Amino acid sequence: MFPQEIIRQKRDKKTLTADEIRFFIKGVADASIADCQASALTMAIFLNGLNKAETVALTLAMRDSGDVLKWHLNGPVIDKHSTGGVGDKVSLMLAPILAVCGGYVPMIAGKGLGHTGGTIDKLDSIKGYQTLADNKTFQKTVKEVGCAIVGQTANLAPADKKLYALRDVCGTVESIPLITASILSKKLAAGLEYLVMDLKCGKGAFMPDLKHAKALAKTIEETANDAGTKTTALITDMNEVLGNSVGNAIEVREALAYLKGETPEHRLDEVTRSLAVNLLVSAKLYKTKNEAAANVEKAIKSGAALEKFAQMVRALGGASDFIEKPEKYLPQAKIVRPVFAKKEGFVEEMDIREIGMLLVGLKGGRTHPDQKLDYATGLSAFCHIGDKLDAKTPLAFVHAQTEEDFTKTASALQKLIKVGSQKRQSKVILS
Ligand code: URA
Repeated sequence: MFPQEIIRQKRDKKTLTADEIRFFIKGVADASIADCQASALTMAIFLNGLNKAETVALTLAMRDSGDVLKWHLNGPVIDKHSTGGVGDKVSLMLAPILAVCGGYVPMIAGKGLGHTGGTIDKLDSIKGYQTLADNKTFQKTVKEVGCAIVGQTANLAPADKKLYALRDVCGTVESIPLITASILSKKLAAGLEYLVMDLKCGKGAFMPDLKHAKALAKTIEETANDAGTKTTALITDMNEVLGNSVGNAIEVREALAYLKGETPEHRLDEVTRSLAVNLLVSAKLYKTKNEAAANVEKAIKSGAALEKFAQMVRALGGASDFIEKPEKYLPQAKIVRPVFAKKEGFVEEMDIREIGMLLVGLKGGRTHPDQKLDYATGLSAFCHIGDKLDAKTPLAFVHAQTEEDFTKTASALQKLIKVGSQKRQSKVILS
């Protein structure tokens, strides 16, 4: 087999065999296929697509390009994956809730990408927490605590790591078969039995509209189910901040408040509970949605999910009194100050992509892959669509390290949020 022949076939809209796909992906992983050839194939797939069998073959070949974890546990191995958003800290709360409800959650999460935040960056803001835990510690934590959130190790779906980096710089990210294979190869390599997908839809997501989000949901569900991991997908809104905060340590504080049973922002609560209930029923831990919902409520209200989070932090290198004294272990910015809208009125819409980029401007997100982050910076008490703003209610509080950063962020924020006379309603679960 020759790589250029495989590229030509896809260029000419022909169907690839599973053997051809396996040959190509093996070559990507062992570097016998050049980056230019791998990039060319991703562009041919971007333009001409893959059918269902090809998408399954690509996903399995990428899964098998590295280690595939095997679990022998007393309950189902379950997880959630989100396609990424602004203020999305759901994983921090969901993993311990699911563990309390009887699931085992080996969550392999990512760093921030572009305007979207990453769960690993949030956890890295906790002093001592090892997101680069070795496989042995990871597996021990999942077994003993019930959940562990760590970063992607070098040998988990390495073909995806390579292809993702090439797609990022070759304009081939937004392709349904490529996104499907990329996400699922990592999830299948983690040895999952059940998965729930949180597909973000809107101006701050890869899928800008419901039609494309539904098509991606269908492909992911079909491919994962064919590959042996039972998967369901929810489509959720990403046109505004999820929860009240954006920023690494600031989002950990919001997640802790949630697990402590403090009144949450209602959209964040709805997404967290809906994902939990869907997955717990699909994994047959509960028979009905009502039963699952009651147990999710109990996991939060009893403090059991908070205790699970504490156990996970401890097992992965964090302090044993993290929950009691979070401020000892989370960084705080020098300046924390409110920013007000220029006029009174209702929040009508916001430029969520650029709001995500404000965190990059505050050095809480990356402009370069090796950049060290400032985990303390970001935004809190963030307004939502439909909120009434006045001289007492700000757009948000900016957490910055310098006056210059504060001023720049504050004036950008005033331009990115449209305030007017219409009180809009926003929906969070779209499908
Ligand atoms: N997340 C991934 O892991 N891969 C994609 O292609 C898109 C989002």
